[in-house]
Amino acid sequence: AEPLRIALAGLGTVGAGVIRLIESNGALIAQRAGRPIEIVAVCARDRSKDRGVDLSRFEWEDDMTALAGRDDVDVVVELVGGSDGPALALARNALKGGKGLVTANKAMIAHHGMELAELAEGAQVPLKYEAAVAGGIPVVKGMREGAAANRIERIYGILNGTCNYILSQMEDSGRDFGEVLKEAQELGYAEADPTFDIEGIDAAHKLAILASIAFGARIDFNAVEVAGISRVLAADIAQAEALGYVIRLIGLADCETLEDGTRRLFQRVQPYLVSRDHPLATVDGPTNAVVCEGNYSGRLLFEGAGAGDGPTASAVVADLIDIARGDRSAPFSIPVGLLQSLEPAETGHRRNR
Ligand code: NDP
Ligand code: HSE
Repeated sequence: AEPLRIALAGLGTVGAGVIRLIESNGALIAQRAGRPIEIVAVCARDRSKDRGVDLSRFEWEDDMTALAGRDDVDVVVELVGGSDGPALALARNALKGGKGLVTANKAMIAHHGMELAELAEGAQVPLKYEAAVAGGIPVVKGMREGAAANRIERIYGILNGTCNYILSQMEDSGRDFGEVLKEAQELGYAEADPTFDIEGIDAAHKLAILASIAFGARIDFNAVEVAGISRVLAADIAQAEALGYVIRLIGLADCETLEDGTRRLFQRVQPYLVSRDHPLATVDGPTNAVVCEGNYSGRLLFEGAGAGDGPTASAVVADLIDIARGDRSAPFSIPVGLLQSLEPAETGHRRNR
Protein backbone atom coordinates (compact mmCIF):
# COMPACT_ATOMS: atom_id res chain seq x y z
CA ALA A 1 0.00 0.00 0.00
CA GLU A 2 1.05 3.60 -0.62
CA PRO A 3 2.75 5.11 2.44
CA LEU A 4 1.35 8.17 4.21
CA ARG A 5 4.13 10.70 3.64
CA ILE A 6 4.98 13.08 6.43
CA ALA A 7 6.87 16.34 6.77
CA LEU A 8 8.00 16.93 10.35
CA ALA A 9 8.54 20.48 11.59
CA GLY A 10 10.27 20.64 14.98
CA LEU A 11 12.77 18.09 16.23
CA GLY A 12 12.78 18.86 19.93
CA THR A 13 11.36 16.74 22.75
CA VAL A 14 8.23 15.71 20.84
CA GLY A 15 9.62 15.71 17.28
CA ALA A 16 12.53 13.43 18.18
CA GLY A 17 10.06 11.27 20.11
CA VAL A 18 7.93 10.87 16.97
CA ILE A 19 10.96 9.76 14.94
CA ARG A 20 11.93 7.21 17.61
CA LEU A 21 8.38 5.87 17.86
CA ILE A 22 7.89 5.47 14.11
CA GLU A 23 11.30 3.79 13.89
CA SER A 24 10.75 1.33 16.71
CA ASN A 25 7.05 0.49 16.13
CA GLY A 26 6.98 0.99 12.34
CA ALA A 27 5.76 -2.51 11.44
CA LEU A 28 3.00 -2.51 14.03
CA ILE A 29 1.94 1.02 12.99
CA ALA A 30 1.82 0.02 9.31
CA GLN A 31 -0.34 -2.98 10.16
CA ARG A 32 -2.79 -0.92 12.17
CA ALA A 33 -2.84 2.01 9.75
CA GLY A 34 -3.18 -0.27 6.73
CA ARG A 35 -0.06 1.32 5.20
CA PRO A 36 3.36 2.54 6.32
CA ILE A 37 3.87 5.99 7.78
CA GLU A 38 6.98 7.46 6.25
CA ILE A 39 8.81 10.64 7.23
CA VAL A 40 10.03 12.36 4.07
CA ALA A 41 11.34 15.76 5.18
CA VAL A 42 12.20 17.47 8.45
CA CYS A 43 13.00 20.96 9.67
CA ALA A 44 14.30 22.61 12.85
CA ARG A 45 16.41 25.68 13.60
CA ASP A 46 19.82 24.13 14.05
CA ARG A 47 20.87 21.49 11.56
CA SER A 48 24.05 20.61 13.46
CA LYS A 49 22.37 19.77 16.78
CA ASP A 50 22.68 16.17 17.99
CA ARG A 51 19.12 15.01 18.67
CA GLY A 52 19.93 11.38 19.41
CA VAL A 53 18.06 10.24 16.28
CA ASP A 54 19.27 9.42 12.79
CA LEU A 55 18.13 12.16 10.39
CA SER A 56 20.19 10.99 7.42
CA ARG A 57 17.21 9.30 5.72
CA PHE A 58 15.14 12.48 5.65
CA GLU A 59 15.47 15.58 3.53
CA TRP A 60 16.33 18.67 5.56
CA GLU A 61 14.38 21.87 4.73
CA ASP A 62 15.92 25.14 5.92
CA ASP A 63 12.70 27.00 5.27
CA MET A 64 9.96 25.57 7.42
CA THR A 65 7.05 26.87 5.35
CA ALA A 66 8.53 25.10 2.30
CA LEU A 67 7.48 21.82 3.95
CA ALA A 68 3.87 22.73 3.19
CA GLY A 69 4.59 23.17 -0.52
CA ARG A 70 6.21 19.80 -1.14
CA ASP A 71 4.45 17.55 -3.64
CA ASP A 72 5.81 14.44 -1.97
CA VAL A 73 4.08 15.16 1.36
CA ASP A 74 0.53 14.22 2.43
CA VAL A 75 0.54 15.47 6.02
CA VAL A 76 2.50 18.18 7.82
CA VAL A 77 3.26 17.50 11.49
CA GLU A 78 3.84 20.75 13.39
CA LEU A 79 5.86 20.28 16.59
CA VAL A 80 7.45 23.71 16.82
CA GLY A 81 5.19 25.56 19.24
CA GLY A 82 4.04 29.15 19.66
CA SER A 83 0.53 30.39 19.00
CA ASP A 84 1.57 32.55 16.04
CA GLY A 85 4.75 32.98 14.03
CA PRO A 86 6.24 30.18 11.95
CA ALA A 87 4.01 27.43 13.39
CA LEU A 88 0.84 29.24 12.38
CA ALA A 89 2.21 30.18 8.96
CA LEU A 90 3.10 26.54 8.36
CA ALA A 91 -0.31 25.32 9.54
CA ARG A 92 -2.19 27.76 7.32
CA ASN A 93 -0.05 26.96 4.29
CA ALA A 94 -0.38 23.24 4.79
CA LEU A 95 -4.19 23.32 5.02
CA LYS A 96 -4.58 25.85 2.20
CA GLY A 97 -2.34 23.66 0.07
CA GLY A 98 -4.60 20.65 0.66
CA LYS A 99 -2.35 18.82 3.11
CA GLY A 100 -3.45 17.29 6.38
CA LEU A 101 -2.13 18.81 9.59
CA VAL A 102 -1.25 17.14 12.86
CA THR A 103 -0.12 19.37 15.71
CA ALA A 104 0.67 19.20 19.42
CA ASN A 105 0.41 22.97 19.66
CA LYS A 106 -2.34 23.86 22.13
CA ALA A 107 -1.47 27.56 22.11
CA MET A 108 -2.06 27.69 18.35
CA ILE A 109 -5.28 25.65 18.52
CA ALA A 110 -6.61 27.69 21.47
CA HIS A 111 -6.01 30.95 19.58
CA HIS A 112 -6.54 29.93 15.96
CA GLY A 113 -8.32 26.57 16.10
CA MET A 114 -11.54 27.91 14.60
CA GLU A 115 -9.77 29.46 11.62
CA LEU A 116 -7.68 26.33 11.06
CA ALA A 117 -10.75 24.11 11.32
CA GLU A 118 -12.50 26.26 8.69
CA LEU A 119 -9.48 25.89 6.40
CA ALA A 120 -9.37 22.13 6.97
CA GLU A 121 -13.07 21.65 6.41
CA GLY A 122 -12.98 23.91 3.34
CA ALA A 123 -10.11 21.95 1.80
CA GLN A 124 -11.55 18.64 3.05
CA VAL A 125 -8.31 17.66 4.70
CA PRO A 126 -7.78 16.38 8.24
CA LEU A 127 -6.71 18.59 11.14
CA LYS A 128 -5.81 16.64 14.28
CA TYR A 129 -4.44 17.79 17.62
CA GLU A 130 -4.77 14.94 20.14
CA ALA A 131 -1.30 15.61 21.58
CA ALA A 132 -2.20 19.23 22.27
CA VAL A 133 -4.38 18.26 25.23
CA ALA A 134 -3.06 16.13 28.08
CA GLY A 135 -0.06 14.61 26.23
CA GLY A 136 -0.48 10.86 25.84
CA ILE A 137 -4.07 10.62 27.09
CA PRO A 138 -6.55 10.13 24.23
CA VAL A 139 -8.95 12.63 25.78
CA VAL A 140 -9.80 14.50 22.58
CA LYS A 141 -10.72 11.20 20.97
CA GLY A 142 -12.42 10.04 24.16
CA MET A 143 -14.66 13.09 24.28
CA ARG A 144 -15.22 13.52 20.52
CA GLU A 145 -15.91 9.86 19.89
CA GLY A 146 -16.33 7.89 23.09
CA ALA A 147 -18.70 10.39 24.69
CA ALA A 148 -20.26 11.53 21.39
CA ALA A 149 -23.76 10.39 22.34
CA ASN A 150 -23.82 12.35 25.59
CA ARG A 151 -24.80 15.79 26.69
CA ILE A 152 -21.68 16.73 28.61
CA GLU A 153 -22.36 18.97 31.57
CA ARG A 154 -19.00 19.50 33.16
CA ILE A 155 -15.35 18.72 32.58
CA TYR A 156 -12.50 19.26 34.97
CA GLY A 157 -9.06 17.99 35.65
CA ILE A 158 -5.32 18.31 35.91
CA LEU A 159 -4.15 19.62 32.57
CA ASN A 160 -0.55 20.65 33.12
CA GLY A 161 2.15 18.07 33.80
CA THR A 162 4.77 20.59 34.84
CA CYS A 163 2.58 22.11 37.57
CA ASN A 164 1.48 18.74 38.79
CA TYR A 165 5.07 17.58 38.91
CA ILE A 166 6.07 20.67 40.88
CA LEU A 167 3.17 20.45 43.35
CA SER A 168 3.56 16.73 43.99
CA GLN A 169 7.36 16.96 44.35
CA MET A 170 7.00 19.88 46.78
CA GLU A 171 4.45 17.78 48.66
CA ASP A 172 6.56 14.62 48.84
CA SER A 173 9.98 16.04 49.46
CA GLY A 174 9.41 19.62 50.58
CA ARG A 175 11.73 20.70 47.78
CA ASP A 176 11.92 24.24 46.56
CA PHE A 177 9.63 25.47 43.71
CA GLY A 178 12.49 26.75 41.53
CA GLU A 179 14.54 23.57 41.87
CA VAL A 180 11.63 21.33 40.84
CA LEU A 181 10.69 23.61 37.95
CA LYS A 182 14.25 23.36 36.64
CA GLU A 183 13.99 19.57 36.81
CA ALA A 184 10.65 19.63 34.91
CA GLN A 185 12.34 21.70 32.20
CA GLU A 186 15.25 19.25 31.97
CA LEU A 187 12.81 16.35 31.69
CA GLY A 188 11.16 18.05 28.68
CA TYR A 189 7.79 18.66 30.38
CA ALA A 190 7.80 22.45 30.41
CA GLU A 191 6.92 24.83 27.58
CA ALA A 192 9.67 26.85 25.87
CA ASP A 193 8.47 29.68 28.13
CA PRO A 194 7.68 27.96 31.46
CA THR A 195 5.63 30.98 32.55
CA PHE A 196 2.90 29.44 30.40
CA ASP A 197 2.98 26.38 32.66
CA ILE A 198 3.29 27.93 36.10
CA GLU A 199 0.86 30.79 35.47
CA GLY A 200 -1.85 28.41 34.27
CA ILE A 201 -1.90 29.63 30.67
CA ASP A 202 -1.02 26.24 29.18
CA ALA A 203 -3.79 24.57 31.19
CA ALA A 204 -6.15 27.33 30.03
CA HIS A 205 -5.26 26.62 26.39
CA LYS A 206 -6.14 22.97 26.91
CA LEU A 207 -9.31 23.71 28.85
CA ALA A 208 -10.59 26.05 26.13
CA ILE A 209 -10.05 23.33 23.52
CA LEU A 210 -11.77 20.64 25.60
CA ALA A 211 -14.68 22.96 26.41
CA SER A 212 -15.23 23.51 22.71
CA ILE A 213 -15.41 19.77 22.09
CA ALA A 214 -17.53 19.06 25.15
CA PHE A 215 -20.10 21.80 24.69
CA GLY A 216 -20.15 22.34 20.92
CA ALA A 217 -18.88 25.88 21.49
CA ARG A 218 -16.45 28.06 19.60
CA ILE A 219 -13.13 28.19 21.44
CA ASP A 220 -13.04 31.23 23.72
CA PHE A 221 -9.61 31.27 25.32
CA ASN A 222 -9.92 34.89 26.46
CA ALA A 223 -12.91 33.99 28.62
CA VAL A 224 -10.92 31.51 30.74
CA GLU A 225 -10.21 32.91 34.19
CA VAL A 226 -6.65 31.94 35.03
CA ALA A 227 -4.50 31.75 38.15
CA GLY A 228 -1.35 29.63 38.26
CA ILE A 229 0.78 28.08 40.98
CA SER A 230 3.62 30.58 41.20
CA ARG A 231 2.27 31.94 44.51
CA VAL A 232 1.80 28.52 46.12
CA LEU A 233 4.30 28.14 48.96
CA ALA A 234 5.60 25.01 50.67
CA ALA A 235 3.73 26.35 53.72
CA ASP A 236 0.42 26.30 51.79
CA ILE A 237 0.99 22.70 50.83
CA ALA A 238 1.77 21.77 54.46
CA GLN A 239 -1.33 23.63 55.67
CA ALA A 240 -3.53 21.92 53.08
CA GLU A 241 -2.12 18.57 54.15
CA ALA A 242 -2.90 19.29 57.80
CA LEU A 243 -6.52 19.93 56.76
CA GLY A 244 -6.74 16.68 54.74
CA TYR A 245 -6.22 18.15 51.27
CA VAL A 246 -3.67 18.38 48.50
CA ILE A 247 -3.27 21.35 46.20
CA ARG A 248 -3.74 20.70 42.49
CA LEU A 249 -3.95 23.09 39.53
CA ILE A 250 -7.38 22.29 38.12
CA GLY A 251 -9.09 23.45 34.95
CA LEU A 252 -12.87 23.37 35.09
CA ALA A 253 -15.46 24.10 32.41
CA ASP A 254 -19.15 23.96 33.06
CA CYS A 255 -21.99 24.80 30.71
CA GLU A 256 -25.11 26.11 32.39
CA THR A 257 -28.48 26.37 30.68
CA LEU A 258 -30.69 29.20 31.88
CA GLU A 259 -34.48 28.93 32.09
CA ASP A 260 -34.88 30.65 28.71
CA GLY A 261 -32.59 28.06 27.12
CA THR A 262 -29.53 30.35 26.88
CA ARG A 263 -26.32 28.44 27.47
CA ARG A 264 -23.41 30.03 29.29
CA LEU A 265 -19.89 28.75 29.65
CA PHE A 266 -17.80 28.91 32.81
CA GLN A 267 -14.08 28.25 32.29
CA ARG A 268 -11.56 28.55 35.06
CA VAL A 269 -8.01 27.39 35.87
CA GLN A 270 -6.73 27.79 39.41
CA PRO A 271 -5.14 25.90 42.30
CA TYR A 272 -7.88 24.04 44.18
CA LEU A 273 -7.84 22.16 47.45
CA VAL A 274 -8.56 18.53 46.56
CA SER A 275 -9.79 16.21 49.27
CA ARG A 276 -7.42 13.26 49.83
CA ASP A 277 -10.16 10.77 48.96
CA HIS A 278 -10.87 12.32 45.53
CA PRO A 279 -9.33 10.46 42.54
CA LEU A 280 -7.47 13.62 41.47
CA ALA A 281 -5.61 13.78 44.80
CA THR A 282 -3.49 10.77 43.94
CA VAL A 283 -2.53 12.03 40.49
CA ASP A 284 1.17 12.69 40.93
CA GLY A 285 4.16 13.73 38.84
CA PRO A 286 3.67 14.82 35.22
CA THR A 287 0.41 12.88 35.08
CA ASN A 288 -2.80 14.52 33.88
CA ALA A 289 -6.35 13.43 34.58
CA VAL A 290 -9.59 14.68 33.07
CA VAL A 291 -13.08 14.01 34.34
CA CYS A 292 -15.93 14.30 31.86
CA GLU A 293 -19.50 14.04 33.09
CA GLY A 294 -21.90 12.80 30.42
CA ASN A 295 -25.64 12.43 30.94
CA TYR A 296 -25.63 8.78 29.85
CA SER A 297 -21.99 7.73 30.30
CA GLY A 298 -21.78 9.04 33.84
CA ARG A 299 -18.40 10.15 35.10
CA LEU A 300 -15.52 9.24 32.78
CA LEU A 301 -11.96 9.59 34.07
CA PHE A 302 -9.08 9.84 31.61
CA GLU A 303 -5.66 9.56 33.25
CA GLY A 304 -2.09 9.19 32.03
CA ALA A 305 1.16 10.95 31.20
CA GLY A 306 0.40 14.56 30.34
CA ALA A 307 3.83 15.51 29.07
CA GLY A 308 7.11 14.02 27.88
CA ASP A 309 8.48 12.71 24.60
CA GLY A 310 7.09 9.15 24.50
CA PRO A 311 3.49 9.80 25.58
CA THR A 312 3.16 12.91 23.42
CA ALA A 313 4.65 11.16 20.39
CA SER A 314 2.19 8.34 20.98
CA ALA A 315 -0.72 10.79 20.60
CA VAL A 316 0.81 12.41 17.49
CA VAL A 317 1.29 9.06 15.77
CA ALA A 318 -2.22 7.90 16.75
CA ASP A 319 -3.53 10.92 14.79
CA LEU A 320 -1.38 9.91 11.83
CA ILE A 321 -2.76 6.38 11.98
CA ASP A 322 -6.31 7.77 11.92
CA ILE A 323 -5.44 9.84 8.85
CA ALA A 324 -3.76 6.86 7.14
CA ARG A 325 -6.98 4.91 7.72
CA GLY A 326 -8.93 7.62 5.92
CA ASP A 327 -10.47 9.56 8.83
CA ARG A 328 -11.69 12.90 7.47
CA SER A 329 -14.06 13.83 10.28
CA ALA A 330 -14.54 17.45 11.39
CA PRO A 331 -11.72 18.62 13.70
CA PHE A 332 -14.11 19.48 16.55
CA SER A 333 -17.16 17.54 17.72
CA ILE A 334 -19.35 19.12 15.01
CA PRO A 335 -18.55 21.12 11.87
CA VAL A 336 -17.01 24.45 12.79
CA GLY A 337 -19.90 26.44 11.28
CA LEU A 338 -22.29 24.82 13.77
CA LEU A 339 -20.23 25.58 16.89
CA GLN A 340 -22.03 28.15 19.06
CA SER A 341 -20.53 31.32 20.50
CA LEU A 342 -21.38 31.03 24.19
CA GLU A 343 -21.45 33.94 26.63
CA PRO A 344 -19.16 33.57 29.63
CA ALA A 345 -21.10 32.53 32.74
CA GLU A 346 -21.63 35.03 35.51
CA THR A 347 -19.38 33.65 38.21
CA GLY A 348 -21.65 34.77 41.06
CA HIS A 349 -24.42 32.45 39.96
CA ARG A 350 -22.70 29.10 39.92
CA ARG A 351 -24.67 26.13 41.03
CA ASN A 352 -23.18 24.17 43.87
CA ARG A 353 -22.72 20.62 42.54
P1 NDP B 1 11.04 21.88 21.90
O1 NDP B 1 11.38 23.27 22.30
O2 NDP B 1 11.74 20.75 22.54
O3 NDP B 1 11.20 21.72 20.31
C1 NDP B 1 10.79 22.72 19.41
C2 NDP B 1 11.41 22.42 18.06
O4 NDP B 1 11.01 23.41 17.13
C3 NDP B 1 12.95 22.42 18.07
O5 NDP B 1 13.42 21.35 17.31
C4 NDP B 1 13.31 23.74 17.39
O6 NDP B 1 14.52 23.70 16.64
C5 NDP B 1 12.14 23.92 16.43
N1 NDP B 1 11.91 25.32 16.09
C6 NDP B 1 11.59 26.32 16.92
N2 NDP B 1 11.46 27.47 16.22
C7 NDP B 1 11.73 27.17 14.94
C8 NDP B 1 11.79 27.92 13.75
N3 NDP B 1 11.55 29.22 13.74
N4 NDP B 1 12.08 27.27 12.59
C9 NDP B 1 12.34 25.96 12.59
N5 NDP B 1 12.31 25.18 13.70
C10 NDP B 1 12.00 25.79 14.85
O7 NDP B 1 9.45 21.76 22.10
P2 NDP B 1 8.61 20.45 22.42
O8 NDP B 1 9.01 19.35 21.52
O9 NDP B 1 8.57 20.24 23.88
O10 NDP B 1 7.13 20.96 22.03
C11 NDP B 1 6.71 21.05 20.69
C12 NDP B 1 5.22 21.33 20.67
O11 NDP B 1 4.55 20.26 21.35
C13 NDP B 1 4.80 22.61 21.40
O12 NDP B 1 3.67 23.14 20.76
C14 NDP B 1 4.42 22.10 22.79
O13 NDP B 1 3.50 22.95 23.44
C15 NDP B 1 3.77 20.79 22.42
N6 NDP B 1 3.72 19.79 23.47
C16 NDP B 1 4.84 19.46 24.18
C17 NDP B 1 4.80 18.48 25.13
C18 NDP B 1 6.00 18.09 25.92
O14 NDP B 1 5.85 17.25 26.83
N7 NDP B 1 7.17 18.62 25.65
C19 NDP B 1 3.55 17.75 25.41
C20 NDP B 1 2.43 18.15 24.59
C21 NDP B 1 2.54 19.14 23.66
P3 NDP B 1 15.97 23.46 17.34
O15 NDP B 1 15.86 22.12 18.00
O16 NDP B 1 16.91 23.47 16.21
O17 NDP B 1 16.12 24.57 18.32
N1 HSE C 1 4.16 21.94 29.26
C1 HSE C 1 3.07 21.04 29.14
C2 HSE C 1 2.79 20.42 30.47
C3 HSE C 1 3.39 19.99 28.12
O1 HSE C 1 3.65 20.50 31.36
O2 HSE C 1 1.71 19.86 30.66
C4 HSE C 1 2.24 19.08 27.81
O3 HSE C 1 1.21 19.77 27.15
